[in-house]
Amino acid sequence: MVKICCIGAGYVGGPTMAMIAYKCPDIQVVVVDISVPRINAWNSDRLPIFEPGLDEVVKSCRNTNLFFSSDVESHIADSDIIFVSVNTPTKTRGLGAGKAADLTYWESAARMIADVAKSDKIVVEKSTVPVKTAEAIEKILNHNSRDGVNFQILSNPEFLAEGTAIDDLADPDRVLIGGRQTPEGQKAVAALKGVYAKWVPEDRIITTNLWSAELSKLAANAILAQRISSINAMSALCEATGANVSEVAYAVGKDTRIGPKFLSASVGFGGSCFQKDILNLVYICECNGLTEVANYWRQVVQINDYQKLRFVNRVVSSMFNTVSGKKILVLGFAFKKDTGDTRETPAIDVCLGLLGDKAKLSIYDPQVSEDQIRRDLTTSKFDWDHPQHLVPSSPTAKSKEMVTVTWDAYEAAKGAHGICIMTEWDEFKSLDYQRIYDGMEKPAFVFDGRNAVNPDELRKIGFIVYSIGKPLDAWMKDLPAAPLT
Ligand code: NAD
Ligand code: UDX
Repeated sequence: MVKICCIGAGYVGGPTMAMIAYKCPDIQVVVVDISVPRINAWNSDRLPIFEPGLDEVVKSCRNTNLFFSSDVESHIADSDIIFVSVNTPTKTRGLGAGKAADLTYWESAARMIADVAKSDKIVVEKSTVPVKTAEAIEKILNHNSRDGVNFQILSNPEFLAEGTAIDDLADPDRVLIGGRQTPEGQKAVAALKGVYAKWVPEDRIITTNLWSAELSKLAANAILAQRISSINAMSALCEATGANVSEVAYAVGKDTRIGPKFLSASVGFGGSCFQKDILNLVYICECNGLTEVANYWRQVVQINDYQKLRFVNRVVSSMFNTVSGKKILVLGFAFKKDTGDTRETPAIDVCLGLLGDKAKLSIYDPQVSEDQIRRDLTTSKFDWDHPQHLVPSSPTAKSKEMVTVTWDAYEAAKGAHGICIMTEWDEFKSLDYQRIYDGMEKPAFVFDGRNAVNPDELRKIGFIVYSIGKPLDAWMKDLPAAPLT
């Protein structure tokens, strides 16, 4: 039986390995992690991440050919193929801070593999890493291993999106495998290809050299995020001119060369990947002396920041230029629907912006806990993807009375002056907005950061509505634009 071990039981390692085990009953898969609570959760009835369809897949093969363990060393030693799916956050200190990828967790995983391996291993980069990382990993492995033990490094980046991870894994657009162009390298590529070929059609398994595979992942995320920043930039122009961004996106997306996906204007993209990977790309370009290329990609992140700031400004300027002491209901905190993940969610920046103007926030999200929300609102930028004990609390930590977290949108709306929709959860579309309106202070505002609700219906109830990139209410049209700071 082929044995696979995956280091890192997170959003990628857990679902990806569960799918391999599910599709390949003849392979034994063990997912290991240094976080004991995370492993315990994977072995419990309440998995550590919320992902539609994940429970069924995990429960159908857990303890048959899928195992979760905190005994990292022994499972590494036992395996033929080792996936490394640890976090690769943005560096917070030192050289490249705020841009470069922090490979501390990757390096420590590689050193552990070198320490404990007694037989040849295929080591697979599943984490998103800077191009050329495989070269550094090879050096760590080869300089620290026992005599006679050989390693082949493969790059096999993951393209799943949260909220649709199980469908993405079961039916991927493509699987990408990069390896050394040597006979041993190509043998390793073939071995990994054989695993995926159990359920993925061969013409969707792309093989390349190592550097193309590593760079393709950064390129894919940069280009996806660029589309969002492009439509978000258009949304600002739509508001200024009376065009409707949904109509523009539809018309543009009908061009088969462009296509309709990833053209939904929003308050900004979030998630653990886009910003981190673009900043990493910017840093790599700078290190290669490509200043113009670096500046080009940096602009994608800058437009994203601009979009969040623009949203906060719109809220404050609409509400008589102050939200001080006013209650605002924040609907949704996750970075997109169908996930409880809040990493880099635009809701954080929007909430901090409103708190900066002394608003009182009442936050409701169907999947995010109060602890998580409070942690997110007090953690310094870029620290969120590092272990909790290393993360200092931000000096701008907000006092408890400014933020309430609630499990009932109707209760939370009582006495509110405005509502900010931050996540496009389906349930927000079917709330009884008349009931909500009746309990609110007047004038009552809705600021829809996701174009999740029908503005005309809300206007009929009496709300003053702002929807990203849509023609403005007369109320907002006449307001002087506040400077963006
Ligand atoms: P995550 O933080 O959810 O999981 C990483 C896990 O690795 C953590 O549980 C951590 O405890 C563990 N870990 C760290 N160092 C370890 C070590 N030395 N030994 C054992 N365990 C260790 O991260 P994630 O979202 O799963 O992302 C992992 C990688 O995949 C990142 O590089 C990310 O950029 C990439 N990626 C993420 C997504 C996504 O949607 N989240 C999609 C594609 C690629
Ligand atoms: C992304 C990539 O899609 C995935 O391929 C990669 O492996 C990891 O990063 P993820 O971050 O999980 O996946 O979700 P995604 O669906 O890409 O959404 C990212 C952010 O962009 C979310 O905040 C989402 O709301 C936003 N978004 C997406 C828009 O604002 N408009 C869109 O049209 C699409």
